[in-house]
Amino acid sequence: MVAVAGAVRRAAVGPYPEAVPTLTELVRAHTDLGPEDVEWLQLLLADWQIIADLSFADLVLWLPDREGGGFWAGAQMRPTTGPTAYVDDLVGAFVPRGRRHLLDSAFDHERVAREGDPEWRDDIPVRVEAIPVRRGDRILGVVARNTNLLGVRTPSRLELSYLQTATDLAQMIAAGHFPFPGQRSDHADSPRVGDGFVRIDANGRVTYASPNALSVYRRLGLATDLTGLHLADTTRELVPPARRPDEETLSAVLGGTVPRDTEIGNDTTALILRAIPLRPAGEHIGALVLLRDVTDLRRRDRELVTKDATIREIHHRVKNNLQTVAALLRLQARRIDVPGGREALEEAVRRVGSIAIVHETLSQAYDELVDFDDVADRLRVMVAEVGAHEASVRSERIGSFGTLDAEVATPLAMVLTELLQNAVEHGFGHAEGSITVTARRLPGRLLVSVDDDGRGLPADFDVGTSASLGLSIVRTLVESELHGSLELGDSAYGGTRVGLDLPV
Ligand SMILES: Nc1ncnc2c1ncn2[C@@H]1O[C@H](COP(=O)(O)OP(=O)(O)O)[C@@H](O)[C@H]1O
Ligand SMILES: [Mg+2]
Repeated sequence: MVAVAGAVRRAAVGPYPEAVPTLTELVRAHTDLGPEDVEWLQLLLADWQIIADLSFADLVLWLPDREGGGFWAGAQMRPTTGPTAYVDDLVGAFVPRGRRHLLDSAFDHERVAREGDPEWRDDIPVRVEAIPVRRGDRILGVVARNTNLLGVRTPSRLELSYLQTATDLAQMIAAGHFPFPGQRSDHADSPRVGDGFVRIDANGRVTYASPNALSVYRRLGLATDLTGLHLADTTRELVPPARRPDEETLSAVLGGTVPRDTEIGNDTTALILRAIPLRPAGEHIGALVLLRDVTDLRRRDRELVTKDATIREIHHRVKNNLQTVAALLRLQARRIDVPGGREALEEAVRRVGSIAIVHETLSQAYDELVDFDDVADRLRVMVAEVGAHEASVRSERIGSFGTLDAEVATPLAMVLTELLQNAVEHGFGHAEGSITVTARRLPGRLLVSVDDDGRGLPADFDVGTSASLGLSIVRTLVESELHGSLELGDSAYGGTRVGLDLPV
């Protein structure tokens, strides 16, 4: 009977004494394990949820102290299939030698150590088993499997199969056959024990299938029980060739001979299968196959892809339509003899064109986000081209707009078009000049300025009373659509500066 909670002492490693230290920090601070040992432990930790779930037990990884004085708790995992034996976090705790003799014994004798009588912890009976973790000819630490006996019922077929498999895996850990080197499952959708559990024998026949696993196979089209069937053959019959991996992968994963996962499906159901071959005494005795129905996940993936593609297609069509409108206006402008009328139509062509540019960018974008630097650069070129017959215009961009929401990008593109146009039109007249667009992203803010080195604003100019269309559009968009502010004045470059301050 050991009151562990009161007996442990916290390690103070890492920059913050209060923070739970990482495995690597603990290893470096207290043990003489090397980087390859840590890699092995991390491979083990990547999969030990499976072992915790199969054994209905809390797992704690204990690492031997460099001085041989005891063990440090390097990691901890709770079961999702049963009650925990530890309410508190143990990571960073230290247990001196002699206090928990199962740990000492498993480590010293390099064998799984267990005890008949439970330990009592805060009125909870806990059965402990200590599993040495072997890598090559060395024991790296001990995994303590702590079962809260209050949660243990009369074992059902399911529980017996889980526990048997957990025991097999424990033997493999002690023998250095688990984890499988280089076989880390990074699959985010990787199946868990509760998703579906199948145990197969050395010939690939099912000896036990959990109710969830059976349900998945029923959805796949199986009319009978799974037990007794050859898993690979059965699956091959239910799944069309186009929806399964190559024959080698299929027989290897469903035959349980290689530690790998694969995805299969038919018209109604998609599932991920993951095999963990079992060789507790070195010899292959079968495998644990976890499976998960991912039909809903895959359907959602497909829907998202289609929705995204549809939105982009719509932007593409809007762009085409706007270009048609611009072309019609341009045609009309050519037929007008009144000079003011022609200019007005040409301005309209430009305004429509700038919106088309935003839609074109959106038709290639994901998530309705626009790389606005690209838009700004194309607007600079467009405006300079239109004005090219009168003035020779150079322009450059300093800084970056970053990515902007479509809702911000469209009005900002129109604003920028007007400002660039004004710089060309009123700044230089028929001479040459240069325009500088500056963008700066601050947290929650975007600062933009358009500078020219031309003749400057007229002496009597007042943006508040100016009734002309261009600046009215700019003011309306900046204030009502972009909720920002606008400022006109003298530029450090010699001409006019228009500054925008926008929340983003
Ligand atoms: N960059 C600039 N340099 C000099 N004057 C400018 C500049 N931008 C705007 N202005 C002045 O502001 C007036 C209003 O501009 P705007 O509203 O765009 O109308 P428009 O361009 O049709 O004249 C212009 O006529 C011009 O006198
Ligand atoms: Mg103008």
